[in-house]
Amino acid sequence: MMVKGLHHITLVTGNYAVNRMFYTGVLGLRQVKLSVNQDDIYHRHAFYANPEKPTGSAITFFEWPEIPNGFPGFGSPHHLAYRVKSVEALAKWYGWLRSENVKVKGPVFYGGLVSIYFTDPDGCLLELAAGDDGVDKPYVVELFSETSPPNELTADMKLLAFDHVSPLVGDAELVKKFLEKFLNIFPETTHVAGKIMFNVQYNEQPYIRYVVNPSADDGYVGRGSIHHFAVAVETEEDQRTILRKLNLAGIPNSGIVDRHWFKSLYFRDPDGNLMEVATVGPGYDVDEPRETMGSRLVLPPWLENMRDRIEYRLMERDKVNQPVWPPNYAEVPENHEPLLDV
Ligand SMILES: [Fe+2]
Ligand SMILES: [Fe+2]
Repeated sequence: MMVKGLHHITLVTGNYAVNRMFYTGVLGLRQVKLSVNQDDIYHRHAFYANPEKPTGSAITFFEWPEIPNGFPGFGSPHHLAYRVKSVEALAKWYGWLRSENVKVKGPVFYGGLVSIYFTDPDGCLLELAAGDDGVDKPYVVELFSETSPPNELTADMKLLAFDHVSPLVGDAELVKKFLEKFLNIFPETTHVAGKIMFNVQYNEQPYIRYVVNPSADDGYVGRGSIHHFAVAVETEEDQRTILRKLNLAGIPNSGIVDRHWFKSLYFRDPDGNLMEVATVGPGYDVDEPRETMGSRLVLPPWLENMRDRIEYRLMERDKVNQPVWPPNYAEVPENHEPLLDV
């Protein structure tokens, strides 16, 4: 199997300072890299992850204050989920997020998971999920009502890795064929309560849970949206195999791009969702010590001679894009889990 689950997921934020306070202070991830968008070098690109296992846990953000809010639809994935250790940890999260004035919905039971939902300061829908391991609903509901909010994030609450991303697609068969042909991925399709569950798995864990909705509209990738998601391959050779297949079929793609911390190949699925295939190595610690990585603005070597100009432009924008903290968190939308089997 070439593709080994998720590599990273990239979103759009309107304000880096607010974004960093939320993802590090509220969600407890570590900033593992601070850089600029290599295709738009005067805008930041921040990376947060579980530092013990950045591949599969790195959520990254382009800071684009100038663009409007996005909304999900074809080309703009619906939501993403992080995995936590247990339903007990999830109950602590529920209390913790509410004590931070984040609006939270849950617990929700679906597809082998117990989940809670909330939005980040830009309005992006997030899910935290624990495996249901056969727990019964009354136990979980009681756990949620009886667990008092922790005063701080505790080790057992750690966000381990992504559980899944949920892009929207119109034609399940077409997307399945696309994944099989170009990525050698064989998704599982099941029908639950009249809905099509369409999962891509690695080690028997679903990591892309497609939402099939032929009547969905086109989405718009703006602030608070998922811009793209990347799946992981071990070697550049795997990436080249995929590239050759895309080229032979005439599928537009980026070619292999050196991102310094990994190599990337971008293309869109038949519904316009931007996908990336990224190599596991060399990793975020290739140009900074592991202990301190992410604490300063790092540029790939080919942008180092632009550093003064880049820093000046970022500083000038920060003057007119002041952070507002605490944020006014948006309500969780009604259809927070389109795959709900109820
Ligand atoms: Fe990416
Ligand atoms: Fe979900």
